[in-house]
Amino acid sequence: MMFIDSHAHIQLSQFNRDRDAVLARADEAGISNILVIGFDMETSLGAVALAEKHPHIYATVGMHPHDAKDLTPDVLKTFRELAAHPKVIALGEMGLDYYRNLSPRPVQKAVFEEQLDLAEELQMPIVIHNRDAYMDILPILEARRGRIRGVLHCFTGDVELMHRSLVIGFHIGIGGIVTYKNATDVQAVVQEVPEDRLLIETDCPWLAPQFRRGKRNEPAYVCAVAEKIAELRGTSVEAIGKTTTENFNLLMGQMA
Ligand code: NI
Repeated sequence: MMFIDSHAHIQLSQFNRDRDAVLARADEAGISNILVIGFDMETSLGAVALAEKHPHIYATVGMHPHDAKDLTPDVLKTFRELAAHPKVIALGEMGLDYYRNLSPRPVQKAVFEEQLDLAEELQMPIVIHNRDAYMDILPILEARRGRIRGVLHCFTGDVELMHRSLVIGFHIGIGGIVTYKNATDVQAVVQEVPEDRLLIETDCPWLAPQFRRGKRNEPAYVCAVAEKIAELRGTSVEAIGKTTTENFNLLMGQMA
């Protein structure tokens, strides 16, 4: 069996005590690659450092909407330099978060657009964070249709929003939420999404699947996400692993 965790934050201090054991469990579970996602300067550098250390780990660099106000010209310049690193295969996570509103919305939007400009210029895929902000994110992406590609990570919209995202050319990232009983929107999306647009992820250390809900999540548990998707789509977990691995490699381009 083969799986890719397309969204993990194993550079965080929550993994400092036992990171090697976490990676060993991921190996054992058949996780062939892990994409470690940066969300500010420190975590972007941490992601790159992990990718340098492990052949099967890749990194992204970007500024989360929570910290949008920290995207100074200097930080953007560093992201641009890091983006040239051979193990940095996408930009993000970036986007809009209207749930916690830790940065003012106009600042979030401006910083999102700046990073989208960089992605267009460098022709790199992007990892989108969205919380309660589809009404603003989708028009921003629609305006750039054909010039950007990427994934809407931890997709929690309904089927209609999924279709709009597909038209823009985006992939749908499904994580542990799909295993929760009340996640009927996400489960409906999983049943409808075209096979070639589906990615799986953990978003660890957060959003552990049902059997570990509330505890620390880790890349090995992406198997539980694949199992639930297989059940919902009436196929095998092997088939979901294979398809989502192919999708990831095609989207991220630079991977072997
Ligand atoms: Ni994340």
